[in-house]
Amino acid sequence: MADGNNLFDEDPQKTSKSEKSEKTTNDQQKQGQPEGERSPWSLSRRRLIAGAGAVAATGVVVGTGATVAVEKLGGGSSNKSTPTQSNGVTYGVPSGESVTASVVRLNVNGVDQFVSVMPNQSLAEVLRENLGLTGTKTGCDRSECGACTVLVDGVPHNSCSLLAIREDGKSIITVEGLAQGTTLSTVQKAFMDNMGYQCGFCTSGQMLQATALLKSNPNPDEAAIRHALSGNLCKCAAYPNILASVQAAAKAPKA
Ligand code: FES
Ligand code: FES
Repeated sequence: MADGNNLFDEDPQKTSKSEKSEKTTNDQQKQGQPEGERSPWSLSRRRLIAGAGAVAATGVVVGTGATVAVEKLGGGSSNKSTPTQSNGVTYGVPSGESVTASVVRLNVNGVDQFVSVMPNQSLAEVLRENLGLTGTKTGCDRSECGACTVLVDGVPHNSCSLLAIREDGKSIITVEGLAQGTTLSTVQKAFMDNMGYQCGFCTSGQMLQATALLKSNPNPDEAAIRHALSGNLCKCAAYPNILASVQAAAKAPKA
């Protein structure tokens, strides 16, 4: 994702991947290729995530010529939709079937939570809407801004692009889990002391990304910090203060 305002945007792999995907879709549109004849890989993220959710719920592998079979899962509410066909694959819920919620166990900030989730719910949605942890922000909702960053088994991920049903049994750390009671973490304190924010919308994601960086590399140089936070955009362009905050956190006495 290239953004002229993003001073941290130094990850050519991410940039080229995103642009490549958009270019493929644009090229197909320019050529007037009907959607139904496009490669399955050019499906929109929303359709892909819906299809993947059904697979996660049922354990059925979907390929060309296959139908997404949906089994009823125990408990919870149900959603019904009209199946659509593309390239020989049927997406959606077959007539007479329904998709229902499934219970997953998420260890969130050290506490086991048993949550009833729909197969197409992202982890960000479940954290915010099911568990009320609104410190995780949703910006782009398409893995481009990093606002929704959380740690999954210690590794930063864009929670908007993870299916909650697939995170069963994982350990999730959100911004609410950084402090110990009323004592801020080193990274939180450094962001506060150095004003590593303006509006604050991106800040939880920035802090979780910085937390993961300092755990794997306690003394990062400026280039390493810029690289690590390159996927976390700040529309307020508070980058100099964010950088200073992470540098201050790295220099702070280790607990
Ligand atoms: S909201 Fe998840 S990356 Fe932007
Ligand atoms: S502080 Fe406003 S988006 Fe970063």
